[in-house]
Amino acid sequence: MHNPALRACGIDAQYIRVQVPVGRVGEAFQQFVKCGFLGVNITIPHKFEALAVVDELDELAAALGAVNTLAIRDGKLHGYNSDGPGFIRSVREAFGAELQDLRVLILGAGGGAGRAVAAQSALKRCRKLILVNRSIEKAETVAGEIRAVGRCPDVSVLNWTDEDVAKAASNVDLIVNATSLGMKASDAKLLPAGVLEARHLVFDMVYRADGSTPLLADAKLAGAKTVDGLTLLLHQGAISFEHWFDQPAPLDVMRAGLQNAVMV
Ligand SMILES: NC(=O)c1ccc[n+]([C@@H]2O[C@H](COP(=O)([O-])OP(=O)(O)OC[C@H]3O[C@@H](n4cnc5c(N)ncnc54)[C@H](OP(=O)(O)O)[C@@H]3O)[C@@H](O)[C@H]2O)c1
Repeated sequence: MHNPALRACGIDAQYIRVQVPVGRVGEAFQQFVKCGFLGVNITIPHKFEALAVVDELDELAAALGAVNTLAIRDGKLHGYNSDGPGFIRSVREAFGAELQDLRVLILGAGGGAGRAVAAQSALKRCRKLILVNRSIEKAETVAGEIRAVGRCPDVSVLNWTDEDVAKAASNVDLIVNATSLGMKASDAKLLPAGVLEARHLVFDMVYRADGSTPLLADAKLAGAKTVDGLTLLLHQGAISFEHWFDQPAPLDVMRAGLQNAVMV
């Protein structure tokens, strides 16, 4: 996605993948500065560690509680979050909907991505926000932070039981999977059978090369509208590009590059 974009914009740079061990993100960033990197995308599980080591933290990234984009300017590390605004653009593109009109249920609200989309939904004044996380204390922390900002009138945390989640789903419009479940075919199901309805909008942040996930397969069977993580990957990538180069991202080129990459 990024290399075709760089070529299309005549920028003499390359996007590469670097694997960094947990606990060594700050050290890696210092190496990137020395090597002349312009920017970095940060993914699972480094988004909280990245937040702690940047020199300048963007206001939205601070509010969303995670850094997934780094711009290196004059040797300084500037931390941003493109997952939140990418989520807004994806909901708009896939569903023609705005977060302020929706009641939202987030599974995995305590992870880096889940926390960002939860906080972003609240900042957009979504009508209702229900947070679910395997480790419930993380969802409670996120809920506390969101309530303190005071934009969303109705924020609650649920125990992850089939019964509670089924009941909550019957009272929301948008269901988001922000857990890492669904990346592998052997992963446990997120929702019990019969929970999804045709009126639901189902957003799986996970993406797979075959273009579907177990959650989205169930959602399609129920007649619900769906979007997978590729759309989010595209939009958060475009926003990262805008932070790095201060110019509009060539979205069509990036979309085609992404499609080609996942079909390999
Ligand atoms: N499409 C995109 O552009 C995009 C962008 C961002 C993220 N993502 C995807 O979103 C997912 C989460 O990423 P992240 O950065 O937020 O990772 P993360 O910070 O490591 O969070 C992982 C989340 O998954 C939950 N989880 C893991 N295993 C689970 C299990 N067996 N049962 C229930 N919950 C489980 C964790 O719960 P605990 O807190 O209890 O551990 C946590 O909420 C990944 O699949 C990632 O690829 C996609």
